[in-house]
Order: sequence, then C-alpha cells, then structure tokens
Amino acid sequence: MAKLGVNVDHVATIREARKGDSPDPVHAAVLAELAGADGITVHLREDRRHVSDRDLALLRKTVKTKLNMELAATNEMVRIALEVKPEQCTFVPERREEVTTEGGLDVVMQKDSLSGKIKILKEAEIEVSLFIDPDIDQVKASHKVGADAIEIHTGAYCEARPGRARQAEFDKILNAVKTASKLGLTVHAGHGLDYWNVQPVAAISEINELNIGHSIVSRAVLVGMERAVREMKELIVAARK
Ligand code: PXP
Repeated sequence: MAKLGVNVDHVATIREARKGDSPDPVHAAVLAELAGADGITVHLREDRRHVSDRDLALLRKTVKTKLNMELAATNEMVRIALEVKPEQCTFVPERREEVTTEGGLDVVMQKDSLSGKIKILKEAEIEVSLFIDPDIDQVKASHKVGADAIEIHTGAYCEARPGRARQAEFDKILNAVKTASKLGLTVHAGHGLDYWNVQPVAAISEINELNIGHSIVSRAVLVGMERAVREMKELIVAARK
C-alpha cells in the first residue's frame, strides 16, 4: 500500500486570506495524522505565501509520523532545513509568479548545484527526494546526483483528458517508476491527485508515498460545511434563549 503524505499548504492559504491565525495548518496536521495520514508535507516557499517559518517549527515539534519539507534548491532553504531537520526534504522548482509548482526539477541541467545540497542534507540524516517529471533522463540524473528518492510529478496525468491522452501520461509515469525502482531509488508521486484519478497511480506497487494536498483540503471544506453552519446556527439561536 502506498503511504499518504498530506500536504497542508492550502490550510495556510485560507488562513493567509485574512492574515489571521485560523485555520492553523498545525491543527490540520494533527487531525490528518489522527485520520491515518502517514506523513505531513509542507512547502516553505521563498515568498512565504502560505506556510510560515512558525508553522514549520511547530510542525517539527508536533508531527508524529514523518515531516516532508518541500523546498527550492537555495542555500537559504537548505540552511533552514538543517535547523528544522525534517525526516525528508523534497527539492522542487519554484517561480514567484506561479500559482503552484508547475513542472519538475531539471536535474540534468542542475546536477552540480543539486549534488552539493543533497550531500549536505544526507550528512544531516535527512532523506532527499527530487520532484521530477516522468522523464527517464531526469530519473537517471536523480540517481547520479545521489538522491534517495524521486517524487514523480503526476500533474500532466491528472490534467489529461480521460482516455488515450491520460493513458499516455500514465504510461510515462509507469516507465519512470520502473526505471527508478531498478536504480534503487525510492519512488513517490504527487500533484493534482484527487478522488477520481488517484487509484491507477496508487495501484503501482513500486510507489512508496503519494503526496496529496489541494483535493483533500478542498473536500475538507465541503464535508465540514454542514457541521460548521449547524454549529453557528445553534449559537445564534442560543444567544436569545
Ligand atoms: N508534491 C509536490 C512536490 C508539490 O509541490 C505539491 C503541491 O504543493 C504536491 C505534491 C501536492 O499537490 P496537490 O496540492 O495538487 O495535491
């Protein structure tokens, strides 16, 4: 069975809409773990648009399963990772103007700068994963630079129309998984996975962990709506009793 890493970034996105203190991604992480999450994932972006340094520090203290920090391959982020010491770091590409992480890392082009950073984190006993497109050259380069794991970007599969186009994207994922596994890399996958498209990917036996955020937070808002409204109604009614 693939493990589930729950990405709580978008709980922080809702909080930042008001720049207040709720909802707290730390609380969401506790509830996710109680519901069976095998890990908690957060992306500390350079612009701190959702998750903050405070969130990461508190998550380090409270997460009982496994903390996976997504980070850009910069010296500042590596320094923070060494302080926080998550169990796993996942290097992701980052552009300020993007809404979310758009493509995988170009490990082939960044071999030198990545291998130094990977070595530093591994020496601190942090597992290092690289978020890459399902591309065989990127898989091989990830192995060469010394990563422990790769996370395969499932975005193109998720966005493709069900049918032939989606099957073609799925086949790319499968190929990349098989190659990575043969090289001895641990294989994770994520991005865009939801309640309708997750199962074919979850069925791939070599995949160790799925990182899922937006669809879970979106569903939490809807499945929690009735209860939230009921509780508010009860308070309003009780106020004049
Ligand atoms: N994996 C990585 C590396 C990501 O950057 C993201 C998005 O932050 C996810 C998984 C989760 O993607 P989604 O929010 O679409 O489930």
